[in-house]
Amino acid sequence: MGGCVEVPRQRASEAIRLLSSQGLLDRSRKPAERRGGVLIPVSDHQSALRALGEKGIDAEECMEELPPRRPRLELEEMKKLAQDLGLWRHSYHQVGDIVVFNARNEDEIPQLRELARLYSERLPRARSFYAKLETVGETRTPRLVHLWGERRTRTVVKEHGVELAVDIARAYYNPRLAEEHHRVASMVVDGEVVVDMFAGVGGFCMHIAVLRRALVVCNDINPNAVELMLESILLNEGRMRGWIHALNLDASDLPQVLRRVKADRVIMNHPTGSLRFLGTALEISKPGATIHLYLLAPRGVVPEEMLGQEERGRFEVKRVREVLEYSPSKLIYRLDLRVAGP
Ligand SMILES: C[S@@+](CC[C@H](N)C(=O)[O-])C[C@H]1O[C@@H](n2cnc3c(N)ncnc32)[C@H](O)[C@@H]1O
Repeated sequence: MGGCVEVPRQRASEAIRLLSSQGLLDRSRKPAERRGGVLIPVSDHQSALRALGEKGIDAEECMEELPPRRPRLELEEMKKLAQDLGLWRHSYHQVGDIVVFNARNEDEIPQLRELARLYSERLPRARSFYAKLETVGETRTPRLVHLWGERRTRTVVKEHGVELAVDIARAYYNPRLAEEHHRVASMVVDGEVVVDMFAGVGGFCMHIAVLRRALVVCNDINPNAVELMLESILLNEGRMRGWIHALNLDASDLPQVLRRVKADRVIMNHPTGSLRFLGTALEISKPGATIHLYLLAPRGVVPEEMLGQEERGRFEVKRVREVLEYSPSKLIYRLDLRVAGP
């Protein structure tokens, strides 16, 4: 009973999946690489060898002691660690291999640093830990304090197989938008011209260009965001079906630059400032185009009622969707508008 089996490296993932599906994988220990093969911990090596043999995977019994797997840090345990340090309410998110804690103020930094040290022993993929004090300025970049691990703010994240180059200190990125990027990209149809007025590092743009044969004009006022967007284009080169045209402009200058191009779809993901640019979005849209307008609204406020009267006759509100909780009292909504005519 127990022990491990050795399989050729090329077939290791397949073997692990098979053993796992048959309940034969011993999850308390970690697989290890040896001499071009992979040692996989199993609960019953004879049954494991039989199962692998039936699928034509060459396997041998092995005797090595495989290292125990450190238990994953569970939510309840995380809460307990934080509470022991006097942090009653804390939250964090992971961006690639960087963990960012939301700090309420600078007084919390010493406790968060200790929490980061404890987490670092238990979150195997995390290499750097930072505290975010606030998000500042037009570019929505965070004020960060390094807590633990590598002093590095650049990383690569994967959303639905799309790779994005991110620098948490230099350009806005929120991992909670990953589903929204995919959702909006799925609405695009081949042949569309899409303009993302506030593209950040290009989440919507990359998803669209990977999924559809569309031309995506991706603009942001932050040159760092545009630089990261260009890096992401290279990262996804082999899987892109569409085309990205990157711009580094104030969105209000888009009508001048896009004189000969009108959009089938405009994305306005700047929830704290989008309303000021609705006139610009209408100017660059074809009749019948769709505008995805993101709005920050206090709970209980009907977001449609925040739309200005002067633009009201120029579109129809087709759908309103709650996207994210921004704070306990505020939500981010997406309003899908259909531009009037033809
Ligand atoms: C909420 S973030 C965008 C997030 C991005 N769409 C995503 O999905 O990751 C808002 C962006 O608007 C950009 N921005 C702010 N004011 C702008 C302006 N006047 N023109 C163009 N971009 C602007 C900021 O630099 C920031 O990257």
